[in-house]
Amino acid sequence: MTTTLRFDPLSPDYQQNPFGYYRAMRRDAPVHHIESLGVWAIFRYPDVVETLKRPDLYSSKDWIINALGEFDPVPEVPSIISTDPPDHARLRRLANRAFTPGVTRAMEPGIRALITELLDEIEARGGEFDFVSEYAANVPVNVTAQILGADPVIARNEFKRWTADLIRSASRSVLPEAELAKIRTSVTEVRAYFTELIAERRRRPAEDLVSVLVQAEEDQQVLTADEVLSLIFILQFGGAETPSHLISSALYECFRNPEAMAAARGDEESRAAVIDETFRHMSPVRFLSRTATRDIELHGTTIPADSMVLSYIASACRDETVFDDPDRFVLNRPNVSRHLALGMGPHYCLGAVLGKLMCGHALGMALERFPNLRPVSDEVEWLPSFWVRGLAEYRVRP
Ligand code: HEM
Repeated sequence: MTTTLRFDPLSPDYQQNPFGYYRAMRRDAPVHHIESLGVWAIFRYPDVVETLKRPDLYSSKDWIINALGEFDPVPEVPSIISTDPPDHARLRRLANRAFTPGVTRAMEPGIRALITELLDEIEARGGEFDFVSEYAANVPVNVTAQILGADPVIARNEFKRWTADLIRSASRSVLPEAELAKIRTSVTEVRAYFTELIAERRRRPAEDLVSVLVQAEEDQQVLTADEVLSLIFILQFGGAETPSHLISSALYECFRNPEAMAAARGDEESRAAVIDETFRHMSPVRFLSRTATRDIELHGTTIPADSMVLSYIASACRDETVFDDPDRFVLNRPNVSRHLALGMGPHYCLGAVLGKLMCGHALGMALERFPNLRPVSDEVEWLPSFWVRGLAEYRVRP
């Protein structure tokens, strides 16, 4: 299909207000070639589902190289997120050992304690604060460090920098050499730290995720040291940023919707409903990338073999053929679980249960601690990112 629509994922207008663009693309150009990036984009729910459930057509093999390029911290082995079935199944079965509902529940007291500590610090500082940088961004990075079993001093001083640098490598094409050098240093440091930690946990297992991973065994299969290292990186990378956007967006939704605010102040189940609809309404991840394994015919257009395909899960989450009145935040929407913000198919988010739990506690506990919390301004700005969607800053008054 040829189109006169200009969909430019780098344009500030799209990045601030993407939903009108998605609606137009679903209607007029569901399969679209983005000239400026030389990639293809897909916008309708059923097509996005197809990209996630048909790895034979849409491969994940270039995921890490697209996201991290030269900064892949473990180039020795393919990452779980870049592996297609059947190889993916082996890694996933072993990784699942670290994320059973039982293991995740056991992390809960530690997560709550960590959030309490962050809230204590904010309360002690007093006055208005930035909910994003002073709170939401600190929750997942500290939780990830804690559950991996990183030393608390390292977690406090280094882990945040390593993680931020790893995440920044996604923008490597626009960063100056000095910044790239910093990322290189972080990658070397984090690799050295976790290599040592893995060796230590092999000698003396502890109550943490690294220990579970080094001991994970299924059908007489175990993870190699490089595979454990690779998994640790993807947990750090995948688990550290997106939950922070979800937490801030959920607060934003609550301020705009009294019913959501009441639910967020309620029990765990009502809070979970706020988190679920926030995933759908404000998907922190805009798209997932795949590679076409052969020429693919879709809606009269041919996506050539080897093309990079951006599958817009954030658009699918607002598809009017699946969700009634999709632009409205509707608490307890009957089919909210069909949202694709955590993916679908073989690569469905490994940390989904943990992510939801962490976000629910982070939102609920902040509202408990600060019963009169309110935004300083109604105007908000979203991050200038073509990949994730999250608030750049959210100043609030306790
Ligand atoms: C709460 C916010 C989160 C969001 C929005 C999110 C989103 C996603 C999405 C969309 C995928 C699918 C990727 C694909 O198909 O290419 C994914 C996969 C993954 N996520 Fe999450 N995630 C979140 C939290 C977490 C957490 C807390 C962790 C771990 C600590 C985590 C670890 C992973 C891993 C390891 C994968 C790859 C799974 C595989 O390839 O089999 N995520 N996530």
